[in-house]
Amino acid sequence: MARAFNALGTIRELTGSDAALHRDHLHRLDPQGRRERFNGVADDRFITAYSTRCFAGRTRVFAWVDRGGEVRGSAELHPPCASEPADIAFSVEPEFRNLGIGTRLFEAVMAAARYSRFPELRITSTAGNRAMRALARKFGARFTAEGGEITGLVAIASEPALAEPRHHGEADTLAPA
Ligand SMILES: CC(C)(COP(=O)(O)OP(=O)(O)OC[C@H]1O[C@@H](n2cnc3c(N)ncnc32)[C@H](O)[C@@H]1OP(=O)(O)O)[C@@H](O)C(=O)NCCC(=O)NCCS
Repeated sequence: MARAFNALGTIRELTGSDAALHRDHLHRLDPQGRRERFNGVADDRFITAYSTRCFAGRTRVFAWVDRGGEVRGSAELHPPCASEPADIAFSVEPEFRNLGIGTRLFEAVMAAARYSRFPELRITSTAGNRAMRALARKFGARFTAEGGEITGLVAIASEPALAEPRHHGEADTLAPA
């Protein structure tokens, strides 16, 4: 499985010279994926400006790059700001979902956050986003829901943790915000 996965592409951190690859990946997201990724409507212009900002500051961007060199999945780690925890965000193009790419990207982000000694990560999306919930739950996320949005908080343990093995049918519970 790992061999087949690795044959399809690799995970690496992106730099400013990869900015166009990141932007083009975000542009290829389907309308629902854009809503879930950006918690609302995101047109091409918004996405272009957003992607540019990702490479202009302290945000770290990790990507799953296919054998043709295109970014097909990405994860951002936005450092903590004042009393706000570090924010993380993920996107995988529709044809590449459910292959474990989101899980591998989450592991990369967790490793980077642990190295930076961030105590906690936050992920937000639309309330109905079952894929995001399933993904974040594998890393121990605790969820709250408010105003059509769902927020997951993931504590960073000092020891590296791999995702829990694949499992299905677990009760999908939410704590009140
Ligand atoms: C959320 C997202 C990044 C997941 O990426 P992915 O590569 O499909 O994730 P994985 O293949 O690693 O799957 C992770 C887990 O989620 C589960 N899952 C995936 N899609 C699911 C869905 N639609 N409903 C329920 N569970 C789902 C998988 O079964 C897997 O769990 P398992 O390992 O226990 O079987 C992807 O769906 C996406 O890009 N969505 C649009 C943007 C978005 O919602 N981003 C998150 C908010 S920032």
